[in-house]
This record gives sequence, C-alpha cells and structure tokens, in this order.
Amino acid sequence: MTHKAEPTIACGSDRAGERTLVVAAKNGDAQAFETLFKRYRRKTLAVVLRYTRVVEDAEDIVQQSFYKAFVHLSQFQGESSFSTWLTRIAINEALMFLRRIGAVREISIDIIGDDTVALQRVISGQDDYDFHTKTLGLRCIKKTALYDGEVPIYHLYYGNAHGDGGTILTAFPMRQQGVAGRLGTNQISRMNLSVPAGSLGFWADRLREHGFESQEVEGYGLERLHFNHPCGLPYGLIADGDGDPARSWEAGGVSAERAILGTHGITVKVAYPDEAIRYLRKGLDAQDGGSEGVSQRFVVGTTGRGRNVEIVEDKDSPPGTWFFGEGTVHHCAWDIGESESQMELKGWLEGLGYTDCTEPKDRGYFVSVYNRTPAGALFEYAWSKPELWTIDEDAEHLGEAFQIPPPFMHQKDFIMNYLEPLETGVAV
Ligand SMILES: [Fe+2]
Repeated sequence: MTHKAEPTIACGSDRAGERTLVVAAKNGDAQAFETLFKRYRRKTLAVVLRYTRVVEDAEDIVQQSFYKAFVHLSQFQGESSFSTWLTRIAINEALMFLRRIGAVREISIDIIGDDTVALQRVISGQDDYDFHTKTLGLRCIKKTALYDGEVPIYHLYYGNAHGDGGTILTAFPMRQQGVAGRLGTNQISRMNLSVPAGSLGFWADRLREHGFESQEVEGYGLERLHFNHPCGLPYGLIADGDGDPARSWEAGGVSAERAILGTHGITVKVAYPDEAIRYLRKGLDAQDGGSEGVSQRFVVGTTGRGRNVEIVEDKDSPPGTWFFGEGTVHHCAWDIGESESQMELKGWLEGLGYTDCTEPKDRGYFVSVYNRTPAGALFEYAWSKPELWTIDEDAEHLGEAFQIPPPFMHQKDFIMNYLEPLETGVAV
C-alpha cells in the first residue's frame, strides 16, 4: 500500500519552529515569511474556500490575507498560534468579500458519481433559535460555541424547563461557515421528540401557523407528525406521552398539556443493517423493539428517555455526510452516568473491535467519548458534571448569556465579533 505524500502542514509539535519563523519574519527575514506562506497557504485556502466556493476568489483572499498578516506582523503577540491568527484574518477577509458581493453563497447541490443530490439549507443561529424556542416552545438551556475546530460555530442547547437529561437537543447553525450537509444513508436521519398523547392536532396547527407543513404518519403503534427544521432536517413528534408535563417550559407559548416532553429517540438509515444491529445488541445490550417493513426498532438502556433507535434499511440513497454541515444530525449522545461506566463501555466496545472510540473529552458541562457505529451514526457516551448547566450561570437564567467555552476564553473578542448576535429578548 502506498500513501500519497501531503505537503507539511503545521501541527502542535511544530509550534517551536513556527515561533522561530515568526520571530525571524518580524525581524525582516523575507525568506522566513515565505516559508510561513508556503506552510499555511493550502490550509488557509481550504478555510476560505468554505466561504467563497470559488477558487479564484479564494486565492485572491488568501493573497490579501497573507499581505495583511505581513503588514501587521508586529501586532502578532503569540497568544495563539500564527496559523490561528492567520485563519482569523482570512475569515474576516472572506466575510468582507461576501458582504461586498451582497450575500453568503450557499451550495445547493452536490455531485456523487452521476447523481446530483440536494444539500441542506444553511441557516442562521436566529432561525434555529426561533424554530426551537418560538415554534417548538422549548427552553434555550445554553448558548455557547462548539469545542471542536478553529472556527467558532454556535452550539445552542434546548430542552424542557429544567434541562433534564433525555430532553436536550442541540444545534450547530452554520451561517458563518456556509457549510451544508447532505442527507442520506449511514447517518441519523430523523430526530424524534415525545409529545403528550392526543396533542398532534394542536402541533399540526401550530406548525402550519409558523410556516411548517407536516404529515401525520403512524409507526410502531404510535401517531407521529413528520416535518422539517428550517434547514431541511427531518423531525418527528411522537405521541407517546412519555415524560413529565410538570417540568415543561411553558414560557415558550405551549401549555404543559401539549408541550414537548423530551426526546423519543432517533431514526438511522443504513444500507445494510446487520452490523448496525450487531453493534446495538452486542455492544449496547439493546433490546429488540419490533419491526415494521424495512424498519427495526431497538431500545437502548433500561431507564430514562430517548432510548428508541429505529434502524431503517435503505439501499437506494447515497451516503449522507458526516462532517459538521447544516441539515444533518452529527451525533446522538447517551447518558452513561459516570466516569467508571464510560471507561467500562469504552473498553467493552474496543474489545468487540469497535476500536475507534475517542479518549474522554471535557465538554465543559459533561465528559464525552465518541464512537462511530457501523450504522454510520456517531454515538457519544457522556457523563454529566454535578453542576451541569449551572456551572456557568444560575438555573433561573439558563441560556440567557452567551458562554465562551473555557478553552477559547482568550479568543472571546474574536468569537463575539464572529458569531452573529441572537435576538433572544435578553442580552447575549
Ligand atoms: Fe454531543
């Protein structure tokens, strides 16, 4: 087997060399800046291309960004890596370019082989916030940013009034990145939420009033309402009445008798389900929950909400995307309880051969291990810190102020300038 050689791109271990080059460049060594240019040109171009989508425009912006970096190099204090500083300059340049031409470009189609496949819509954080809080009547539990990557992405959490486990869904609105995903197989294909029995008529009316069409369907003996998030992501309301209405968030305009009770589970599309089912049964000790046509249902765990996984066989659709992209479900999180059980499950899964479990990652409110399942769905196994949502704001004011993830505190000004403000009725 051969590996295609890739140009060297700076990584963490190369920071010392980078610093030496920056110091030399600051002292007027043009060759040192040329080396920095060669080292980071390709990476910077990739970032800018996500905005412009046009190579010629991106190359112009990269040139302009390096020129600005060169002119302002004396202002670079080394608080972040040169690469991060340069990326910020390039993103700002790209955003200014897009403002000049009057719009954020969006790609609406993608080519897979001979097929043209629709991508999802890129939306704003405001669209996402309004959909979840004003249309679905959920409480915003937390406004923060995604912990992964160099470019800030909103991470918005929604749930019931108390942010109880099993009621939380989160979103990464991609307006600044302009990146849309593609629905398909080997991917979570629908988010299913629980509502009280008998409330679907109310929900169909409410959705229509807010501009969302829905379809009534039935599955596993439960009435369901299918509709799409503004970006195109499929949602389902399942009239299973599984939850505690007393803990609903009525400030969103939906009474407790009808409010969303939390999660019901997920639907996953997969071309060949056998390995996915083996993972659920053997890896997670999931129980069979019946089957209907091409769908098989499994129930994960013994207590709590949102435990239903419906595996739907689909050999016709192309694979969906796995990157952070608008309109797709990136992952599904499961409450593992505590650190010991997390490590126990990680060891168990790895022992079965599912060795691509990550190390535990501190997500501020909880600690997570991720594992790509054979269904293609990314599963997160997380335990919550005792303070959970109140670690950075009190329970009465959850979701009101924007919370900078601690690892990015030194980039606060950049993040606040970069993400669009949200109109929430309270200060962000
Ligand atoms: Fe997560």
